Amino acid sequence: MIPHSRPVFGTAFADAVQQVVKSGQLATGKVCAALEAEVAGLIGVRYAVTVDSGTSALMLALYALKAKRKVRRVGIPAYACRAVLHAVRAVDAEPVCMDCNDDLRLDAEKARDMAESLDAVILVHPFGMIESMVKESWCCPVIEDIAQSAGGRMDGQTGEDGRMVGNFGDVSIASFYATKPWGGACGGMVMSSDADMCERVRHMRCADTAGITLPYAGNHQLSDIHAALARVRLSQSNQEREYRMRQAVAYDEWFMGIKSYPVKREVSCNHYRYIVRVDDASGVIEALHSHGVGAARPVEEPLSRLVGQRCQGAEAAWQQCVSLPLLTDMSEDELDCMRKAIAACM
Ligand SMILES: Cc1ncc(COP(=O)(O)O)c(C=O)c1O
Repeated sequence: MIPHSRPVFGTAFADAVQQVVKSGQLATGKVCAALEAEVAGLIGVRYAVTVDSGTSALMLALYALKAKRKVRRVGIPAYACRAVLHAVRAVDAEPVCMDCNDDLRLDAEKARDMAESLDAVILVHPFGMIESMVKESWCCPVIEDIAQSAGGRMDGQTGEDGRMVGNFGDVSIASFYATKPWGGACGGMVMSSDADMCERVRHMRCADTAGITLPYAGNHQLSDIHAALARVRLSQSNQEREYRMRQAVAYDEWFMGIKSYPVKREVSCNHYRYIVRVDDASGVIEALHSHGVGAARPVEEPLSRLVGQRCQGAEAAWQQCVSLPLLTDMSEDELDCMRKAIAACM
């Protein structure tokens, strides 16, 4: 079976880990600081704080906001990863689902109508594609989530120009989970040019400095070992992006003349996932599995459904969207298998 994700960890990763182990400093230290400086510089913000996961990054960003203003109602995309919902629930706020369009970006008109009643929004670049609503001026703080879209750019023609995603929110978050574009093993980051916000997160990530009123216990720091893995992945992320892009263009050709169609991507996005719309996602995923292709639903269940809100766009996306493996090391045999499976199942 061709897996849906297959990050490749070569010897550079082993070498980086070995170096950290030999240094004797394995917990949060210089390597985390170097990763923070690197990412802040890359996306063009002043500060970055490493944490133990993307989910923690979302949660701590919301806590940091809540320390300064009321955060009762938080707008979230209806069709997104469940971590977004966990974070909103963790700060005891009400999630308000914003529906998506046919292209899986937010339905802009509906989102604008809701904006007035929200205290904050989490905007996700879905599956690596660009959510242009991060460019709008919202009447509440924006948390920009680049867990899946890291390395993508807004309005660029090639992937080397245009403004980096992560540079638009009042605060942004990233994930270093293995299957993510900047993934080592696991980890996350909060990024912002707001010094106060980042300082708060820095205190909250450490059990010894976190305020005792916070309704969570534990340590949310990243280790230098995890940071070292993420730094190696980051260093090869452009190359991986190029590879995925070429693969995605090849898939586009295979879809020509087929009724099912790929969801529109920007040239400058990071080509993280390749998503197609079909009539019946369940049936197609099953058929692809029987042809050796580990296709998957982009999200297990719409967040709107989990919280009992009705979002038609998200329901349609769940019914129709299939994510195909878009790997960085596909063999000729695997490509041949993919091509045949697409022709047979779509
Ligand atoms: C959009 C999005 N945000 C946040 C997260 C959470 O990241 P992590 O797995 O590092 O907790 C994910 C994970 O799947 C995600 O897809």
